[in-house]
Order: sequence, then structure tokens, then C-alpha cells
Amino acid sequence: MRILLTGKHGQLGRCFQDVCAATNHELISYSSDELDIRHAGHVSSAVTTTQPDIIVNAAAYTAVDNAEKESDAAYAVNAQGVEHLARAAQQLGIPIIHVSTDYVFDGAGVEPYKPSDLTRPCTVYGASKLAGEQALAEHCTKYMVLRTAWVFSEYGNNFVKTMLRLAQDRDALSVVADQYGCPTYAGDLARAILILCNHYQQTHELAWGVHHYCGDLPTSWHGFARTIFGKSRELGLLKTTPQLTAISSEQYPTPAERPEYSVLECLTLSELGVRPGNWHESLSHCLKKMKDPVVY
Ligand SMILES: NC(=O)c1ccc[n+]([C@@H]2O[C@H](COP(=O)([O-])OP(=O)(O)OC[C@H]3O[C@@H](n4cnc5c(N)ncnc54)[C@H](OP(=O)(O)O)[C@@H]3O)[C@@H](O)[C@H]2O)c1
Repeated sequence: MRILLTGKHGQLGRCFQDVCAATNHELISYSSDELDIRHAGHVSSAVTTTQPDIIVNAAAYTAVDNAEKESDAAYAVNAQGVEHLARAAQQLGIPIIHVSTDYVFDGAGVEPYKPSDLTRPCTVYGASKLAGEQALAEHCTKYMVLRTAWVFSEYGNNFVKTMLRLAQDRDALSVVADQYGCPTYAGDLARAILILCNHYQQTHELAWGVHHYCGDLPTSWHGFARTIFGKSRELGLLKTTPQLTAISSEQYPTPAERPEYSVLECLTLSELGVRPGNWHESLSHCLKKMKDPVVY
């Protein structure tokens, strides 16, 4: 099948290209330079020219803190850009798989959020992503939203890379220990999306609507950092690791307030064979790839 992918240079975009490389699918991938989803005309002509069987949208404005000051920029991509894709997809009857975020929730919950739970974003980024979900619901019928969380990979910028960089030049690090979520390897998310594409190819059906997909075990940023350092030591990626101190969110203020608890329940896709990734295993795989990109 022919798949149109946006945001090909992002973490998910790159991992999706990797997982598709071992398939017979024809992947037509666009970077933001090649297809800027903020422009309705560009989106419409890319979709009309390529006539894909399905669209995977990995493009997004993801600078969570900057979004607080650049609201228009965040909405232009995460809301209007998604609307352009939704309209173009609807016109040709093409389904779209779109990725959203745990930040659509306020984080006041105490048990894993279900897709149907009440959304209440507390940041501009989260609100702009929710507006994207709403644009899909309003403008097209065959769409899937996969909300994910705490994405890491060997590509781009992410928490794993930040921790490894800081570990090179610091003896001690303080990391927030009162925010809980599920780290998600972009490669696992990419494989989940590929399973959905394959399912659509075979059945011409999908479980349309909003779903959750993230890593399996909740942790805090502090717990995530501890695991990253432990595995990096084991793999010889780091010779020494900094002393880790657990701090509160109050001790580490950021322009955009993070949800305290954003664990996502991921049960709705299990019948299709899409289950939460084992992020501990995936982290080891990711670190090995970072250590020795040629072998892995
Ligand atoms: N990262 C996380 O922790 C996290 C958590 C929850 C949900 N998510 C969601 O997961 C999805 C994938 O995230 P990611 O981490 O892979 O993001 P990423 O690495 O920041 O990649 C996003 C990609 O979108 C592209 N893009 C930005 N503006 C665009 C535009 N106007 N037109 C076309 N492409 C544009 C960027 O291109 P340039 O490189 O050229 O700017 C970039 O390659 C996103 O929907 C994100 O909201 C991410």
C-alpha cells in the first residue's frame, strides 16, 4: 500500500521510515520543507498527487515550553495543519492516523486515563493538540488519534539524550520525581502504527476514533533517569554516572506546567495486536543503537 508520511525528520517520522523499510509498502515521506502542513494548498496538492491509501501524520509543533509564548505557531501546525490534512483526506476518502499527547489531560487523575476521559489541557501545546483532535473529528470520518507520551528514540532531541549529555559534564543532577507517565520508544509507536496500516490494508477497516498508545510501566522522570543511567553504565555508554537527587516540580519550574499524572490506559487496540511497548527493553535497544549505529 502507499503511505503518505509527514514530519519525516522527527523522532516518530524517522522510526516509521525504519520500520517500513522491511515491508513492501511504498512510503512517500515529506519533511517540513517538502510539505508544510500549515498551507492548505500544499497539503491538498501533495495528497491529490500521491493518492495514498493512508496518511500518517508525524508532523507537529512539539516545543512545549516555547508554545506558551508562541501560541499562534503551535496552533498553526497542531490545529490548522491537522485540519488541512483532515479535509484533504476526507475529500479523497483516505484514512488518517494522527498522533496526539497525554498533555490533553490536566494530570489530576489517580488512575490511568482512558481515551474517553474528560480532557482539560493546562498548556498551550496540550490545547493546540486537542484542537487538532477536534479538527479531525469535525472534518473527516476515517481517522485514528493515538495519544502517546514521553517519547524517546535514538533520533532528535529527547529526555534520554538530554540525560546522557548532562551526564558527560556533571557530577550531580536533580530530576523531578513527582510527575508520573509512561516512557514510549518512538520505534514501538512506529510499529504500532504499521500494524494499524497493515490491518487497514487487509480489512479496509480500523477502530476509528481516539486511542492511547504508550510504554508499559509508569515511572517518574527521576525513575526514568535512573534507568537510563543504569543501562548506559551496563552498556559502556557512560563510564560514570552523576549522583541523582529527586526533586519536586516546584523546585524545577518550567514555562509550561507538566501534568502530575499522565499515565494512559492502552487497552482499546489490544484486539488489533497493538499492546504497550516494554520500554525497559526498548530503552536498551535504543541505547545500543546510539552506541553502535552501524550494528543495530
Ligand atoms: N516527543 C514527545 O515526548 C511526545 C509526547 C507526546 C506526544 N508526542 C506527539 O508525538 C508526535 C511525534 O512527536 P516527535 O517526538 O516525533 O516530534 P518531533 O521529533 O519534534 O518531530 C516533529 C516533526 O514535525 C515536523 N514539523 C513541524 N512543523 C511542521 C509543519 N508546519 N509542516 C510539516 N512538518 C512539520 C518537524 O519538522 P522540522 O524538523 O523540519 O521542524 C519535525 O520533523 C507528535 O504529534 C507529538 O505531538 C510527542
